[in-house]
Amino acid sequence: MKILILGAPGAGKGTQSKFISEKLNIPHVSTGDILRKEISLSTELGKKVREYVESGKLVPDEIIADILLNELKNDIYKNGYILDGFPRNLNQARILEEKGIAFDKVILIDASEDEIVKRLSGRRVCKNCNAVFNVYYNKPKVDGICDYCGGELIQRDDDKEEVVRNRFKVFYEQTMPVINYYEQKGVLIKVNGNNSLDDIKNEIFSLLGVG
Ligand code: AP5
Ligand code: MG
Repeated sequence: MKILILGAPGAGKGTQSKFISEKLNIPHVSTGDILRKEISLSTELGKKVREYVESGKLVPDEIIADILLNELKNDIYKNGYILDGFPRNLNQARILEEKGIAFDKVILIDASEDEIVKRLSGRRVCKNCNAVFNVYYNKPKVDGICDYCGGELIQRDDDKEEVVRNRFKVFYEQTMPVINYYEQKGVLIKVNGNNSLDDIKNEIFSLLGVG
């Protein structure tokens, strides 16, 4: 099964992807996670993309499309995956279409901006396995430590207020048309992203028929 997850910054894409990945036993592939890893390792690619990610701008299409298409060649994706973070604009959606990559389900987590801004200020992510927590809504069992792998929890550089504002602007201008694109194809499923983590998870599982 190939699933695409869409939503504004902080809507809960990474959080729900982890739940879906465990339930369906398919890997989660996040372009944001791949970029942050390259940046933290200071690779050539990381140096090239750092400024875009840290200022909340989109990395150029040809760079990110190459990264994703290469990643998807990996054997672990052959039985399906949940894709998070790509496509971010119509050009990227067309790149997938040209490569013959289509989705069984496209899930939109639809959350209001007020709710999301609070979530982003409380977000902590595992440096090691990318698991997502929140100091207000989804606390780790031990402060600063990942429940899953014991890794260190950190705040993302792009969760600063002015960068968050920029990420929203990019989302409204460039990613909203992608949502309309899948809606017009008739494959989009919307869930109310203002609900609790568990309610959203249950709604997604039931829509996927695995409830
Ligand atoms: P990316 O990593 O994709 O960031 P994003 O889209 O801004 O989304 P986030 O990861 O911030 O949010 P999320 O929806 O995953 O929410 P989460 O589950 O963490 O991209 C980062 C950057 O990389 C981009 O700005 C760009 O520069 C670059 N990039 C990536 N892909 C690209 C592409 N295709 N093209 C070009 N550039 C690209 O949840 C957020 C917080 O809320 C957490 O703390 C969580 O615990 C909490 N939470 C979640 N759900 C709930 C709930 N229901 N109730 C209460 N709290 C909740
Ligand atoms: Mg994410």
